[in-house]
Amino acid sequence: MTTPTPADKFSFGLWTVGWQGRDPFGEATRPELDVVEAVNRLAELGAYGLTFHDDDLFGFEATHREKQIDRLKGALKDTGLVIPMVTTNLFSHPVFKDGGFTSNDRGVRRFALKKVLRNIELAADLGAETFVLWGGREGSEYDTAKDVRAALDRYRESMNLLTQFVTDRGYDIRFALEPKPNEPRGDILLPTVGHAIAFISELDRPDLVGLNPEVGHEQMAGLNFVHGIAQALWHGKLFHIDLNGQRSIKYDQDLVFGHGDLMNAFALVDLLETAGYEGPRHFDYKPSRTEDITGVWDSAKANMATYLLLKERAAAFRADPEVQEALETAGVAELGQPTLNAGESYDDLLSDDSFDLDQASERGFGFVRLNQLALEHLAGAR
Ligand code: GCO
Ligand code: MN
Ligand code: MN
Repeated sequence: MTTPTPADKFSFGLWTVGWQGRDPFGEATRPELDVVEAVNRLAELGAYGLTFHDDDLFGFEATHREKQIDRLKGALKDTGLVIPMVTTNLFSHPVFKDGGFTSNDRGVRRFALKKVLRNIELAADLGAETFVLWGGREGSEYDTAKDVRAALDRYRESMNLLTQFVTDRGYDIRFALEPKPNEPRGDILLPTVGHAIAFISELDRPDLVGLNPEVGHEQMAGLNFVHGIAQALWHGKLFHIDLNGQRSIKYDQDLVFGHGDLMNAFALVDLLETAGYEGPRHFDYKPSRTEDITGVWDSAKANMATYLLLKERAAAFRADPEVQEALETAGVAELGQPTLNAGESYDDLLSDDSFDLDQASERGFGFVRLNQLALEHLAGAR
């Protein structure tokens, strides 16, 4: 039940299983992980895809660019693993200290765009469908130092150039913006799902730009991730997703999926599996610094096992007659009915006196009972 297969569409960032445990306070606790080893191990574990930043594969200097791409392609051919998504690192090198697309330094902005254009060519060559842009350095620490309206102009200019590029080249690639409220910048532009959706509506080709929301990023802002995903789906903007775990408002923990807010993870899997999301189930987590290489692969497995467990538990929840009855009492399906009848006008509504105020005020929705049923299914008690 918790053994994944490629049909489950699980993918991992090379920077996740490859994370060496370096943090602001401590050095690496694990050796480097070679890309071929990563592909082989992920394929053995039942994943279907690998994703990467340009710098993860061949470094910022790109001295072994072609050689590393060839090695990756060889490993993909041997294992059948695919590259569904590619992304660019516009945050590690000192040149990006004030951002890439929105650096105050115009030369840096031009350099960042060239880096991304080059990497989109590689993404197309590898057959990736999605190009993720996480603007971790696009932001500021000081309100006097950044003209936010000008920064949004430059962000838009960059996105318009990138969508023009894929259109002219005929690449079958869509962009996914990844919101995050802060870290590494004090405040990041496009901090939440909602901000990013509003930004996309100002672009030349909004159809080519969607979202890659991350569990922990919304939760760092105290927001409900399931609500964010539902809204992204409602706008047709859920192009990709970063699954992981976060325990409340603090630094970005990148725990294993489900190792944070488990009830929210349960509802998330239920939503993804019933709302027709067909993209990859991508894990963007960090194997904790305490783990050796065995712990790295155990944690990779744990992400997939948790997802499959939650999927099974969510299906059991939906199939339970008691749950169906509780859903009925709660009026969950009733919200799907339009508030006015077909053809009914506001005049008709104004003259309708059938509403029983007392009865409606007395109604108990039974939401707590419904949630307890969810918990009992989640805990394996049903
Ligand atoms: C983070 C982000 C990144 C991005 C990655 C892909 O908080 O560090 O989640 O891991 O997902 O850069 O663009
Ligand atoms: Mn993160
Ligand atoms: Mn992420």
